[in-house]
Amino acid sequence: MKTYIWTFPTRVFHWLLAFSFAVAFFLGGEEEFLNLHSALGIFIGILVVFRVIQGFTGPKYTRFRDFPVSPASIRLFITNMKQSKAMHPGHNPLASLVMFSIFIMAFLSAISGMLIFASGDTGIFGFRLLEVSDPEIFEEFHDVVVHLFLILVVVHLTGIMADALFHRENGTIWSIFSGYKRIAAVPATQNNFQRVFSIMWFVIPIIVFFYVLKFQETPVGEKENTEKVSDNDKDED
Ligand code: HEM
Ligand code: HEM
Repeated sequence: MKTYIWTFPTRVFHWLLAFSFAVAFFLGGEEEFLNLHSALGIFIGILVVFRVIQGFTGPKYTRFRDFPVSPASIRLFITNMKQSKAMHPGHNPLASLVMFSIFIMAFLSAISGMLIFASGDTGIFGFRLLEVSDPEIFEEFHDVVVHLFLILVVVHLTGIMADALFHRENGTIWSIFSGYKRIAAVPATQNNFQRVFSIMWFVIPIIVFFYVLKFQETPVGEKENTEKVSDNDKDED
């Protein structure tokens, strides 16, 4: 029996997050792509803030109250996986823990990235917002959280592979493409509020992404030089 578990917005969110994380991570540290990197990072941050709101307002299985993270649920999952799976058609207890950690790490990656710029003279803000004695501390923090994020993605993919290997019958891996799992459960449905919310969920981060990309048209690092050159021009006049 097939049941609809992941609604369309959840699947769009998943693939936007996966794709933008992969590109942002790959471009991280590449000076000439820092503009695209930071725009993608901010995009991820906003996407995840909306996902957290959806955790309180969204359809069944995406709500955090459907994330079984109590010690009793985790114990049952480890000792009697079959019964646990029947009880939790959405994320299983361990997957729920990984999902929460991914949301936190994605948010911290975006915040720490912005702090690097806020404590320097260049980048999205174009001027120094924060005075700190050692601005490199934010680079180190960013470095740590983005790598923790990567580790969580590897754990997530390992979990998905294990599920595909040992519980092929549930079709979990395909559920993130089609929305359906081969499991008997109450299907997920969306109300009008959730539909309108989903439009904002994707439109707002996309607008901010292009805004940040445009705002930073002058490559990071060159902005300061451009400003200095135009100041000199003014002096000559
Ligand atoms: C950078 C890569 C990826 C990231 C950051 C990521 C992150 C996530 C997140 C946050 C969720 C929870 C969705 C939600 O509740 O809103 C999720 C679920 C899921 N992901 Fe990924 N994912 C990635 C790659 C992949 C890939 C390559 C696959 C393989 C097809 C995959 C398969 C799944 C599946 C099947 C679920 C649902 C799991 C369940 O039923 O508990 N993910 N992923
Ligand atoms: C949310 C997803 C993000 C991911 C996965 C990510 C990933 C990375 C990675 C892998 C590096 C290279 C780190 C190293 O090897 O030292 C890096 C560096 C950097 N990122 Fe991000 N980043 C994200 C968001 C952001 C944001 C939102 C900004 C700015 C608004 C930003 C600004 C920077 C800067 C300035 C560097 C260079 C730091 C240095 O020189 O050490 N990042 N990022």
